[in-house]
Amino acid sequence: MRKVVRLSILGAGTVGGGVLTLLRENADLLNAQTGKRFTVRHVLVRDLSKPRAVAIEPKRLTTDPQRAVCDPTVDIVLELMGGLEPARSLIRDALQAGKHVITANKLVMAVSGDELIRLAQQRGVRLLYEASVAGSLPILNALQGALAGNRISRVVGIVNSTTNFILREMERAVEAGEPAETAYAAALSKAQELGYAEADPSSDVEGYDAQYKTAILARLAFLQYVPLESVYREGITHLSGRDLIWAKRLNMGLKLLSISERLPDGRLCARVHPTLIPRECPLYVVRGAFSGVWLQGNGFQEMSFHGFGAGARATASAVVGDLIEIARHPKPPKYEDPSLRPGETAPIETLCMRYYLRLVAPDETVLRALREELILLGAEFHPSETTEQGLEQVALTPPLNEGAFQTTFARLRTQKHGTVQVIRIL
Ligand code: NAP
Ligand code: HSE
Repeated sequence: MRKVVRLSILGAGTVGGGVLTLLRENADLLNAQTGKRFTVRHVLVRDLSKPRAVAIEPKRLTTDPQRAVCDPTVDIVLELMGGLEPARSLIRDALQAGKHVITANKLVMAVSGDELIRLAQQRGVRLLYEASVAGSLPILNALQGALAGNRISRVVGIVNSTTNFILREMERAVEAGEPAETAYAAALSKAQELGYAEADPSSDVEGYDAQYKTAILARLAFLQYVPLESVYREGITHLSGRDLIWAKRLNMGLKLLSISERLPDGRLCARVHPTLIPRECPLYVVRGAFSGVWLQGNGFQEMSFHGFGAGARATASAVVGDLIEIARHPKPPKYEDPSLRPGETAPIETLCMRYYLRLVAPDETVLRALREELILLGAEFHPSETTEQGLEQVALTPPLNEGAFQTTFARLRTQKHGTVQVIRIL
């Protein structure tokens, strides 16, 4: 690779801006780490007149994707624009044109990672995507590098910072006796303002962002291609302040978790859903805009990573790390990426776990009807109490098969007048 490495940056929003800042602030450091200088040739944006958080020479700004991607003088394309298209096609074009690519785009990597990884290998270039999962945490590098000699059995993570930030703010509100719903809305706007949230924040709160990240993380941890649709997904929009109050009473934390595990029959099960976790879990302390990943392997036993999972500088840290890696090692490995091997996946219905149920009913008769089903499952009940929503009772079940439990839950939901909230327990 040339002494002066030329870059095209697609996108100058939160992440693109953060990368431009770090490239400037740490130029001498990058030179010392690689023996090279990095220069930005093009910055692709939608709107040339938009004010930018970081100064960009006007002649570098362009709205012409082909100019940014196909310029023969450019060595590395950084795709930091987001969304499936045109981002995926531009990554493809850049790889076809023989350029290395760095992306922070989990959607593209979860949907088309296999095709793009193979294309990069065919073209003899690198495609790196550390920033696509858990912001600044070097988890993908660790799985492919220092931890690669381990058989991983389980990966549990808080991989979406926006939802973790929202849940923390809701928790603070209920502790202060304030409405959690108001805190939810305020925290979501704050997460958008701070650049943590996706352009469409429903991707965060409905669990899609975490689902994309889980497909990538599980593929690299378990060395098996993970189709996105095999990853079970739930978001946080149905959680209420009462669930946070109960989490505290039960001495647990409430988090949106990404969980992937190798089952005894060899299949891989990957899922994203709100989960109650005990205080002893290393992820209990991962709060606010932080992400955390806790994993188990047959050599290192267990390990956790904890740090900023979103935001301009934190994400730029991962992107710039990839840049240094490419400058040092521009040739891709000669063997096929082992994470693209096919393998079997198992649906969530295969698993066995404990459940928290919060029953709410207008009167004792309806509550009793809801309770009866759960008594048969061996659930333990906390005393009922009167809340603004009605009569409330929380039950905790013993470990149950998810498939069988879902049948019971579907029946409970048909009970007129009562409502049932279900949260899985780790
Ligand atoms: P963002 O703030 O919305 O910035 C997107 C940038 O891309 C903007 O500069 C926008 O141009 C440009 N852009 C978008 N579509 C374009 C198009 N069709 N043509 C030309 N330019 C286009 O997004 P972000 O938060 O930086 O996220 C970028 C990517 O990083 C996403 O894949 C996201 O999932 C990922 N990521 C984000 C974070 C985070 O903390 N934000 C962390 C990790 C990964 P204009 O400015 O002119 O509109
Ligand atoms: N919206 C994402 C999050 C950005 O909140 O985690 C980091 O990928």
